[in-house]
Amino acid sequence: MKKVIQGGIVVTAADTFQADVLIQGEKVAAIGERLDTSGAEVIDAAGCYVFPGGVDPHTHFDMPFGGTVTADNFETGTRAAAFGGTTTVIDFCLTQKGRPLKEVIATWHEKAAGKAVIDYGFHLMVAETNDRVLEELREVVEEEGISSLKVFMAYKNVFQADDETLFKTLIRAKELGALVQVHAENGDVIDFLTKEALAKGNTGPYYHALTRPAEAEGEATGRAIALAALADSQLYVVHVTCAAAVQRIAEAREKGWNVYGETCPQYLVLDISVMDQPGFEGAKYVWSPPLREKWNQEVLWSALKSGILQTVGSDMCSFNYRGQKELGLGDFSKIPNGGPVVEDRFSLIYSEGVHKGRISLNQFVDVIATKSAKLFGLFPQKGTVAVGSDADIVIYDPRVRRTISAETHHMNVDYNPFEGMEVQGEVMTVLSRGDFVIRDKAFVGRVGAGRFLKRSPFARP
Ligand code: URP
Ligand code: ZN
Ligand code: ZN
Repeated sequence: MKKVIQGGIVVTAADTFQADVLIQGEKVAAIGERLDTSGAEVIDAAGCYVFPGGVDPHTHFDMPFGGTVTADNFETGTRAAAFGGTTTVIDFCLTQKGRPLKEVIATWHEKAAGKAVIDYGFHLMVAETNDRVLEELREVVEEEGISSLKVFMAYKNVFQADDETLFKTLIRAKELGALVQVHAENGDVIDFLTKEALAKGNTGPYYHALTRPAEAEGEATGRAIALAALADSQLYVVHVTCAAAVQRIAEAREKGWNVYGETCPQYLVLDISVMDQPGFEGAKYVWSPPLREKWNQEVLWSALKSGILQTVGSDMCSFNYRGQKELGLGDFSKIPNGGPVVEDRFSLIYSEGVHKGRISLNQFVDVIATKSAKLFGLFPQKGTVAVGSDADIVIYDPRVRRTISAETHHMNVDYNPFEGMEVQGEVMTVLSRGDFVIRDKAFVGRVGAGRFLKRSPFARP
């Protein structure tokens, strides 16, 4: 059936204009003034923005980590994402050394298929680079449609890879047209500082942050950039938190190197002071890299505005406070790292970014949807409102104010790190490939409707 979104303000990364949007089947069929509505269902968007659905380049659903498994799976996680205005997620498929890559990818397909309510893709973690893995990577990129590879420079004795692994991955990625992502922190230094803190009896959540200093992130970011330049390859630094890392990315980009960066709402909105609370409360804010001193926030916002950083991912990795975060009572190194952010990413960035005048409406669309679609081989199918693109659309009412709370969120987790924060604007209606997923703030989607997205090889945007 045809649908016409009528009377809204269409916003893309390039333009803002009043127009109707005609949807036919799964695609946007026309955009223009006073479109013919005969035979169409009319969706009133007067006073609202008509945004492309958010593309979240960084989620961890149903992921074993820190001795437990994330609280949100592909069903609860993608439903919460949709409530928050996100219509595409790219999730991290974990590998184990010695296991064929096809097998680990199949495991991730089993987690997602029949559960996701919106479309999804996978990044693939690389843990080793022997001849078998290097050969298998061709199939991963060319046949599986997984055109981004993740290397962890931290989490010693768990995920951490050495520089040789990163360097070989960068070289192979260049040959295959894949984008290499890094978790950039110096895992060896952090391991040493962690052991030292625990030996001194410093066991509370705040020490998680103190044992992961900003320069450990800056150093690893600079090292990854240097290796990417040596390999003449392409690099994307996930969850950038601080000036020390932004500076390295800025320098690389000034030289014309193929280097990109992502930050996350938690680093733009929260700071290290929330971890310094009595008792175990700080565990709710344990992320790696950790929250930083407040002054870093404006550095991150300006980096988004100036294009030094290109995307905002949620790094959705939810663990309940009760029973999961509590695994680290008495030893901060055992607190599962990560937090629930997928649902609030979109409105936090609109509210703190556009509403507070830090970025423009078009920059908002760029960092929340378009750039991720471009960097990860999904554009123009995803990430914009254009004729021929998938009709993944968010109708957002900027006049409404909303208070974030675990009482009302849809993530499967018992706290919200942004509890009590007021945000400007609210997601009213969301369409995924032309079908309603959220209608007037209610879920009307279908579990299993989300499709796996085979992504194109990396192309410099
Ligand atoms: O603390 C975090 N960031 N948890 C998720 C895993 C990762 O490092 O991205
Ligand atoms: Zn990470
Ligand atoms: Zn992550």
